[in-house]
This record gives sequence, C-alpha cells and structure tokens, in this order.
Amino acid sequence: MIGTGYVGLVTGTCFAEFGHHVTCVDKITEKINKLQQGSIPIYEPGLDTLVTKNIKNGHLTFTTDQTEAIASAEAVFIAVGTPSSRRGDGYADLTYIYEASREIARHLKGYTVIVDKSTVPVGTARQVARIISEVNPEADFDVASNPEFLREGAAINDFIRPDRVVIGVESARAEKILQTIYKPLFLQETPIVKTDIETAELTKYAANAFLATKISFINEMAVLCDEIGADVVALAKGIGMDGRIGSKFLHPGPGYGGSCFPKDTLALMRIAQENGQSLRIVEAAVEANGAQKAKMVKKIRGALGGSEAGKTIAVLGLTFKPETDDMRDSPAVTIIPALIEKGAKIKAHDPQGIEEAQKLLPPGITYTDNTYDTCRNADAVILMTEWNQYRALDLDHLGSIMRQKIFIDLRNVYHPDIIKEKGFSYTGVGRS
Ligand SMILES: NC(=O)c1ccc[n+]([C@@H]2O[C@H](COP(=O)([O-])OP(=O)(O)OC[C@H]3O[C@@H](n4cnc5c(N)ncnc54)[C@H](O)[C@@H]3O)[C@@H](O)[C@H]2O)c1
Repeated sequence: MIGTGYVGLVTGTCFAEFGHHVTCVDKITEKINKLQQGSIPIYEPGLDTLVTKNIKNGHLTFTTDQTEAIASAEAVFIAVGTPSSRRGDGYADLTYIYEASREIARHLKGYTVIVDKSTVPVGTARQVARIISEVNPEADFDVASNPEFLREGAAINDFIRPDRVVIGVESARAEKILQTIYKPLFLQETPIVKTDIETAELTKYAANAFLATKISFINEMAVLCDEIGADVVALAKGIGMDGRIGSKFLHPGPGYGGSCFPKDTLALMRIAQENGQSLRIVEAAVEANGAQKAKMVKKIRGALGGSEAGKTIAVLGLTFKPETDDMRDSPAVTIIPALIEKGAKIKAHDPQGIEEAQKLLPPGITYTDNTYDTCRNADAVILMTEWNQYRALDLDHLGSIMRQKIFIDLRNVYHPDIIKEKGFSYTGVGRS
C-alpha cells in the first residue's frame, strides 16, 4: 500500500484483517515511526484496535522503504493524495501518483498488479502504465483501477461492508488477483461492478459529484425556506421518503467540505472541459456551495444584530464532519476567517480537530478543551459541526454563562422551539 493516509491506512489495515499480508509504505518517517509503535496518526473510530491486532498477528507492517514491500507484492495499491493543483485551476495534481509510479517501477519483481485506489482523472492508470514501462522496460505488470468510496468517520465499516466495489480491470490475470484480495467481500455477496479502467476512474468522480449536487440542492431549498418561512427539515423528510430520492445527503448545512467533494467536483469539470463538454449541473452545485458558505457569514452577522465587530463568538466543531480530525476544506476554514476579518473574537472547540485547525485557521483564536468554557461570556454560539457531544447541551447552563443568548445552529441539530423555550434567539439553516 503506497500512501498511508486516510484511505491507504484503512485499506491496508482492512486487507490485513481479511488475512492478507500487507505492508503500508509512506514517505513521512514520523508517520511510519508512530504506526510501527501502534500509534495512529489520524482519528478514525475503531482503526487503532484493528491496526494493533494486525501488527501483533504479523499481517500488517509499516515502512518508509518501498524496496522489499514492492518486490515481494502480488499487488501494489497506490493510495497517495490527489489534491487540487496549486495553480488553482481545479485540475487534480498527479505529482504524487507519478512519483509513486516511478518508485514502484524501480522495485517491481515478477508479475504484479498496480492498482489505483486514489481518485484520479480518466486516463491516469494508462499514464501510470506508461511511466512504469518507461522506467523499467522489463517490468511484468498490469494496471487496474479500484476507486475507494469509504467515508471518513465510518471508514472501517464502509470498507468491510461496502455498498459495492468498483473494479476497472482489463486483464484476466489481474482480475484473478483482485478477486482473491476481495474474496471475503465476494463471500458476503457484496456487489462487484467490473468495468473497463476509464469507466472505473470516472465512476468515482460521478459518485462524488452526485452527492455534492444533492447537498447543494437541499442547501438551496433551505435558502428558499428561509425566505418563505417554511421548514426545510420537514421538507427533506417529505421528499426523502420517496424511494427514488432517498433521505441521505438531504441535510442542509454550511456547505459541503472535506478532502474529496470540493476537489473532485472541480476535477470532474476539468475532465469534461478537456473532452469538449461542460457539466452544467456540477458547475451549479459548486457555485451554490460557495454561495452557501458566504450566506452563512451573513446569517451569523444577522443573528448578531448586523455586526460581528467586537463580539465574542463560540464555535462548536471545526472539522468538516464529525468523527474525523480532517480539516481539509472544512466550512469553518472559510467562515471563521470572514468573521475575524470583521472584528469578531473567536473561541473554538472540537473533540479531535484542533491540532489540524491550528494549521489552517488564522492566529488569535482561543482553543479550549471544554464545550462550556468555549461558550463562557460569548455573545453567540455557532454549532458548526454536529459532533454527538453537542447534541444534548445543558441549555440552562449554557444560557447562564453566555453574555448574550444567541444560538446559531448551522447543522439544524436542535428544534428551534427547544432553543427558544430556554430564552435564546435561534437561527437555523432553512428553519426558524
Ligand atoms: N479521505 C477520504 O475520505 C477519501 C475517500 C475516498 C477516496 N479518497 C482518495 O484517496 C486518495 C488518498 O486520500 P487520503 O485522504 O488518504 O490522502 P492523505 O493525504 O491522507 O494520504 C496520502 C498519503 O500518501 C503519502 N504519499 C504521497 N506520496 C507518496 C509516495 N511516493 N510514497 C509513499 N507515500 C506517499 C503521503 O505522505 C500521505 O501520508 C486521494 O486520491 C483521495 O481523493 C479519499
């Protein structure tokens, strides 16, 4: 497993759990040192137990040295990052993929399947094959595409009990090896969608673009509900119970974030452009998402009586969703700096994300390790990320320690009546 991040570490560990022998490789020495001692560099529920178990039983090892890991492998998975390019044009940056391909090429021994698990633009697997053949003309290998659909925060369950596995493979030999690797899932009758390589690559982007679109759709409905005085939570129930629509991803909020949707929607638009097409629905979803974040800043300002200058705002939750420490493209990263710029003082709490948040948010924020300390003497509290521990706040206590009783619920966790009964003003997303 080349790349031991959110996807590589979970995939490698779960393959070890299936009974395979897995070596996880990363070029960050500190990460590998930690893992060798059984310490997990990310927060992902349940992962520590599985890593420790599989290190102990000898199925899982960690190294910074690819040589032996690659030479002895029947399959090498590439799970390195594919962020948006630094040029800011939305293209996926494939530097890490190409670098990994060159390293793999140098160490291959015997027939090996090179499997792209990273989310990559259409045609990348063929580029990987080209690079490997160029660097090592003797190499005996096939490439395959096996995109990953796990969600951070529920990654292990998603990996072990996926809705489906997509495998883009064009050689029978490679397919057989992949079937062996995924055998435990075949046995539990997980649907396996076998495609050509390009279709597998595109399927991942299409899935993320669809989900992002669903979120932008309900966020726009929330904006309309705010204007009309309708309740978007009831509306979402009303449409979501229709089996053709489905209730998932119909929760309005401050806009989608995270390490995938923002970059993958942009990358898909570029793939379309390069092929002479435009994806107008995806473009609109992206635009609506940017607008949603800006609207949240206005909403907060409105709740504070028209200005955030000089106000102390308590922010509960910083990560892009609960049960992860991932701060990449979190709505907090857009919303908090905009509030600070207008003179707000921010106090913030997050169960797992503070270390990452400190790297991405401007200086001057007061971080606390207790929910109520964060809210003490605040003029308003913003519920930014719906961690479970914010779902049953002691509202009487909260009201008694805050300077003003202003509750801004960007995840619609609380029913407005419950908050108002306690003497707070309530601002939700698409309901009031
Ligand atoms: N995070 C998710 O929820 C998720 C879900 C599905 C798919 N994906 C996709 O999976 C891929 C990986 O995402 P991630 O979130 O795990 O990224 P990440 O940034 O957490 O991890 C990538 C790791 O790869 C390592 N790396 C880079 N180049 C390397 C090399 N040449 N050799 C060894 N290690 C190398 C980095 O040091 C890093 O630890 C991306 O393409 C992403 O879009 C992510």
